[in-house]
Amino acid sequence: MHWHTYGSAEKAAEACGNHILRRLEEAIAGDGDANIAVSGGSTPQLMFRFLAQSRFNWNHVHLFWVDERAVPPAHEDSNYRMAEECFLQPAHFPHRNVHRIQGELAPDVAAARYVEEIRSHFGLAPGELPHFDLVHLGMGADAHTASLFPGEPLIDNFDRIAAAIYVEKLERWRVTLLPGAIATAKHILFLIAGEDKAEAVRNVVEARYEPSKYPAQVISHHSRHVTWFVEQSAASLASV
Ligand code: 6PG
Repeated sequence: MHWHTYGSAEKAAEACGNHILRRLEEAIAGDGDANIAVSGGSTPQLMFRFLAQSRFNWNHVHLFWVDERAVPPAHEDSNYRMAEECFLQPAHFPHRNVHRIQGELAPDVAAARYVEEIRSHFGLAPGELPHFDLVHLGMGADAHTASLFPGEPLIDNFDRIAAAIYVEKLERWRVTLLPGAIATAKHILFLIAGEDKAEAVRNVVEARYEPSKYPAQVISHHSRHVTWFVEQSAASLASV
């Protein structure tokens, strides 16, 4: 486990952004292009702004989402909208390389469309899973990641690519990649900041394996290539 703590959210975001750029360079040097899936919420904003000012050549990068809220792309809760404002627009990211989850559609239709787009882009055979070059994950104070919340029946589904999920506690639908499509990535990273995440971080890293209780464990315990970028207050209860 590659674990890094930082004195501020800004420093964690910058280190995470540099890590992403280096992994993208490696992927492009190897395959000619790179496929990355990013999460939403608030923590990524600083990191997205760092990427936007990096002057990286995005023409060979394909951008996917780990999850999306079941809302239109202009909605204030849209992960796409946040990424568009903080990253895509200021970076002049090529829209032909943006693979948005269509949150404006019925959740099951959006999920099916997204799965089809991933299968087509990666040229997957039936039942085959994608291998993203990099997946960026956050973590909630309840140890959720992606839109895999505590008690989610699909938490240990390693066969399917993505699904529409109703999140009881939020009374909201989401579309999310499932563990199988995340854990198969060449590189996975968690970017986490804020004291409110400290207990979740400790439990995910140190508690017994109970992914129904600590969903992020389903990734941290099944993938070899996980790198943690953790702001110090979020790391304060972990003894890593
Ligand atoms: C989402 C994210 C989600 C996020 C965590 C942490 O759609 O909300 O994909 O998994 O990473 O909820 O969110 P914050 O960074 O806002 O704390």
